[in-house]
Amino acid sequence: MSYLMSNYAPLEVTFVKGGGCYLTDTKGDQYLDALCGVGVTGLGHSHPEISRAIQSQAQKVIHTSNWYHIEHQEALAEKLCQLSNMDGAFFGNSGAEANEAAIKIARLHGHTNNIDNPIILTANQSFHGRTMATLSATGNPKVQSGFAPLVSEFIHVDFDDINAIKAHTDNANVVAVMLEPIQGESGVIIPADDYLNQVQDICQANNWLLILDEVQTGIGRTGKLFAHQYNNITPDVLTLAKGLGNGVPIGACLAKGKASKLFQPGSHGSTFGGNPLVCKTALAVLEVIEKDNLLGNTMQMGEYLLSGFKSKLSNSDKVLEIRAKGLMLAIELNQDCSSLLNAALDKKLLLNITGQSIRLLPPLIMGKAEADIMINTVCELIDTV
Ligand SMILES: Cc1ncc(COP(=O)(O)O)c(C=O)c1O
Repeated sequence: MSYLMSNYAPLEVTFVKGGGCYLTDTKGDQYLDALCGVGVTGLGHSHPEISRAIQSQAQKVIHTSNWYHIEHQEALAEKLCQLSNMDGAFFGNSGAEANEAAIKIARLHGHTNNIDNPIILTANQSFHGRTMATLSATGNPKVQSGFAPLVSEFIHVDFDDINAIKAHTDNANVVAVMLEPIQGESGVIIPADDYLNQVQDICQANNWLLILDEVQTGIGRTGKLFAHQYNNITPDVLTLAKGLGNGVPIGACLAKGKASKLFQPGSHGSTFGGNPLVCKTALAVLEVIEKDNLLGNTMQMGEYLLSGFKSKLSNSDKVLEIRAKGLMLAIELNQDCSSLLNAALDKKLLLNITGQSIRLLPPLIMGKAEADIMINTVCELIDTV
């Protein structure tokens, strides 16, 4: 009997250590990790520089409080803002908390403009987290089911449909649009190249904040440090988590211009958020990404994986579509393929299944050897469907 609540249904495996792209279970079997704990461990497991940063910081000080200055938090805020062209940072412990901060900023923006019931537009099929506000923002009834009453004043519009957003420009209560640049949890849904540019134009024309949730797409996952850099735009608010700490819990909400000035002492906070340990680790993550040119590797490996899959699957009558940006990849089949989750585990490959799609979020440090294993194993799995 387990004393854990039943909100997860874990697969029958327990990992006890990891190195690079591989995890080892209690029996000593090795698994290729093409999921990274759902887009988290981009630098792989037990990365020496990350382990060293954690160890050395743990020996100095792990936690103080945001009631005192935190050296590494200030350094991380500066680094992230320089990299993203933003002006201010707030640190929490997860993606949901980063998005909570973004939602609160949007509401403050509304109230500053004398809007009493500020509305945020979000997308159908989006995923923004599991707290009450972020699940209300999420455009997926399954995530919301059982939790009514939801936090109100979110309007869901179709993703990648600019007219669906334009349709709300005469609603004086709208204050922000909140989107993932690529929808991750719903199966790597990539919008038209200029979608975000057009959304930004509408936001600017209407004094709405553009909030980009890059919890999954950020920190190099798509081959750019932030996915919106493909569009050469700067959002008003940018949220990050997952890859930022390579496994230590950290979330960041960055904001630009007027949006970065809305929080005042007392308006938001987090006990653990941005403590010395997680900030030192995140600084080390950013350093390694830069020093080892992991963005270049992500682009290269992403192209290698995509062309490998395309050439092997071009004649498959089971494959509807292959969607990829950097190392964020989904293969959509013409049928439900949930059974492949355990079949992949038997073949010592960790991946995710989202309905009809096989989703890979492999490590940014991967090489061709790992890519070949992923391509061959996934194609074998598709053959068995
Ligand atoms: C785009 C996006 N936003 C927010 C979240 C929530 O992050 P967390 O689970 O760290 O709260 C996720 C998690 O999958 C995500 O993919």
